[in-house]
Amino acid sequence: MPRVSQLFFKTATVFFLIGIILGLQMGMSGDHAAFPAHAHLNLLGWVTSAIFGIYYALNPARAEGRLPMIQFAIFTIGVIIMIPALYFLNLGNTAMVPLVGIGSFIVLAGVALFAAVVFSNEA
Ligand code: HEM
Ligand code: HEM
Repeated sequence: MPRVSQLFFKTATVFFLIGIILGLQMGMSGDHAAFPAHAHLNLLGWVTSAIFGIYYALNPARAEGRLPMIQFAIFTIGVIIMIPALYFLNLGNTAMVPLVGIGSFIVLAGVALFAAVVFSNEA
């Protein structure tokens, strides 16, 4: 499996573990306030990262070069900024709004770079 796929699966698994722990914490406490952070940690952090990793594993030629690594770094940094900020926003800290926005746009940049990889003319 290409290195970028390995990296996506490593971060995806960490996001998954934290996402599920957050889900269990909500379920056990009965306080579901942080469900959007839980949902997006699982869906962006686990599911989307894993799909990126699978894509690169199925298309190893497109995993070559620097762009996939940059795409991994940008997307992952975006998730790491967006989700904790969203968590604290969900708990009522409205000062987190700009950080959630910044993180979301970095995630968008990571997805745009993925589009650049998918639509590139290489093999
Ligand atoms: C042991 C694992 C998990 C537990 C205990 C758990 C628990 C919860 C809880 C308590 C809520 C709040 C429900 C509500 O107030 O409406 C929730 C919402 C949600 N969870 Fe999880 N979750 C788990 C795993 C996952 C996974 C793996 C995903 C996605 C891949 C996921 C996606 C979602 C989504 C999208 C919502 C929001 C649903 C809505 O819009 O109401 N969850 N989860
Ligand atoms: C940067 C990327 C994203 C942004 C900025 C974003 C933003 C949002 C917003 C503003 C809501 C409404 C929340 C509310 O009404 O309280 C929402 C809900 C939702 N989004 Fe996203 N989203 C993103 C990515 C995704 C992705 C990739 C998925 C699925 C793979 C997804 C699945 C959902 C689901 C299931 C809900 C309903 C549950 C919830 O409110 O948390 N989102 N999203």
